[in-house]
Amino acid sequence: MELSEAMRTTGAVRAFTSDPVPPEVLHRVLDDARFAPSGGNQQGWHVTLVRDPALRRRLADMSARTWERYLAEQAAGFRAFNPLDPAPPDVEVPEGLRPHPMLEAIEDVPEVLLVTVDLRTLAVMDRDLDRFSIIGGASLYPFVQNLLLAARNQGLGGVVTTFLAASEPEAGPLVGLPEGHAIAALVGLGTPVHQVSRLRRHPVEAFTTVDRVDGPAFTLDA
Ligand SMILES: Cc1cc2nc3c(=O)[nH]c(=O)nc-3n(C[C@H](O)[C@H](O)[C@H](O)COP(=O)(O)O)c2cc1C
Repeated sequence: MELSEAMRTTGAVRAFTSDPVPPEVLHRVLDDARFAPSGGNQQGWHVTLVRDPALRRRLADMSARTWERYLAEQAAGFRAFNPLDPAPPDVEVPEGLRPHPMLEAIEDVPEVLLVTVDLRTLAVMDRDLDRFSIIGGASLYPFVQNLLLAARNQGLGGVVTTFLAASEPEAGPLVGLPEGHAIAALVGLGTPVHQVSRLRRHPVEAFTTVDRVDGPAFTLDA
């Protein structure tokens, strides 16, 4: 698949057909994804293929608690899980919240990949700033996006979920997470029930400026 086409059509896929992912295809996806960049080329990621249905269910149930919290914070008018404007801990959880499609059917997802990272491999340039740190994830999530792009190239789709990170103290021992490692994502992969052809994203002019963050928009219309 042509790169631009792949980048423009790799949307979040949360519902999969029952087609299995052949091992050689999964291997190829991982083999392409491993060319992701990371700070100092440390490649601190680890992928655990979660195949035990009971383990999947436990991880999905933990994730679902955070999904409910996410929806509750949204329903209360907050940007869910935002570090700058956090919702109060006692935010009301409304009745009848919609289940998350991938978590609800976790046993049927063709492949579930738990992506973890060795925190000792990270160089976090903003760690000493008096604000929320973002740089560490930049050595990990390019790999995760590469997984999705490589999957798309194989006619597969997937979604990055991060709910499980909130339950790391509980989930870690179930998966043998070593000390100093962190849960980054639980990724479902399989054949999409629907292939997305149009993704909704902001245009270039909405996020690109010249010389200053508040400078004039970069546009071809001048
Ligand atoms: C870092 C990151 C975390 C995400 N976490 C979740 C998640 O926990 N659950 C989920 O369903 N989707 C998650 N997503 C998928 C986003 O919701 C999705 O990329 C976004 O809504 C755009 O969807 P689209 O590509 O289908 O347009 C995550 C995506 C990223 C990049």
